Amino acid sequence: MSNATPQQGLVTLKTIRAMAQAGEPFACLTCYDATTARLLEKAGVPLLLVGDTAAEVILGFTRTIDMPLDVLLALTAAVKRGAPRTVVMGDMPFMSYQADDAEGIRNAGRFLTEGLADIVKVEADSSTAPLVEKMVRAGIPICGHVGSRPQRAAISAGYASAGRTADEARQIVADAIALEQAGCGMLLVEAVPDEVTDAIMRATTAPLIGIGAGTACHGQVLVLQDALGLSQHAPRFVDPVAQLSDHVIAAGREWIRRVQARDLGGHRYTMKPGESTRFEETDGSSGGEDAGASGVSGGSDSGSAGPGAAHAPQIRPAIQVRSTIAETRITDRHA
Ligand code: KIV
Repeated sequence: MSNATPQQGLVTLKTIRAMAQAGEPFACLTCYDATTARLLEKAGVPLLLVGDTAAEVILGFTRTIDMPLDVLLALTAAVKRGAPRTVVMGDMPFMSYQADDAEGIRNAGRFLTEGLADIVKVEADSSTAPLVEKMVRAGIPICGHVGSRPQRAAISAGYASAGRTADEARQIVADAIALEQAGCGMLLVEAVPDEVTDAIMRATTAPLIGIGAGTACHGQVLVLQDALGLSQHAPRFVDPVAQLSDHVIAAGREWIRRVQARDLGGHRYTMKPGESTRFEETDGSSGGEDAGASGVSGGSDSGSAGPGAAHAPQIRPAIQVRSTIAETRITDRHA
């Protein structure tokens, strides 16, 4: 382990570059929320990718092209807030940069400003290099994603591997070179044979992250849900590091059992000294008018058994007031 390895300190793009130069493989995982980001930072994962795979694993779509830009920006910021000492990479979703260069540069910039990202990933090739150059010139660190590019699945007839013919392999290596020359400070290659990865490693110097691209890359990434054994259909190249599905199902079943047994555990709220008696007295003697006037409402965290059936007639006015408010809100929401 070299000095480049992040421990508890701040990880920057410079740290990632130093690890790559030192030949020290760095880990990357996708991440989409602050809680998980906090845990992965604690684990020491130096790089988190807020990928457009969020469309699938978070939003339930079957294609990454359904990822809304604004949602991905919000998720990226959430991950950075959860892991402020980790490098966070935002992912430009479909149609956020393909249609128009100026719009693409502006959207890439939004990942830095609104998304709090440290670097922005674009699925790219040689033809996208001029746009990447403009993004970098605007001050946006870019990672070029080559090889299999899921945003082009409609053209390539589904999610597929890439670079399995000599011509395709040559093109992918040329794409990586063009993107590095355009200023990409990082590269990512997806679902290619080892020969293609090896050739990119020989032809470029930027830290290269692989996914389903063999072991030679400087860094490795997996979709978190695939890595944790939570996905229903993970790609063939995934060998999960945990099997959490069974734990989540078991936890769900345990919660059902506890609810049914009225055995919740945890803290229960109690009324302040003397208040319970006062509540019952007021409640019993003066009815709802007094209850309302004295501010005794039996609120949701009062710790009492709540408005029990025995007292229901006395406290009905207070309840009616509240239900009227609730009804008003519901009506408003549907207006
Ligand atoms: O969107 C994503 O999560 C990705 C990884 C699969 C590399 O691009």
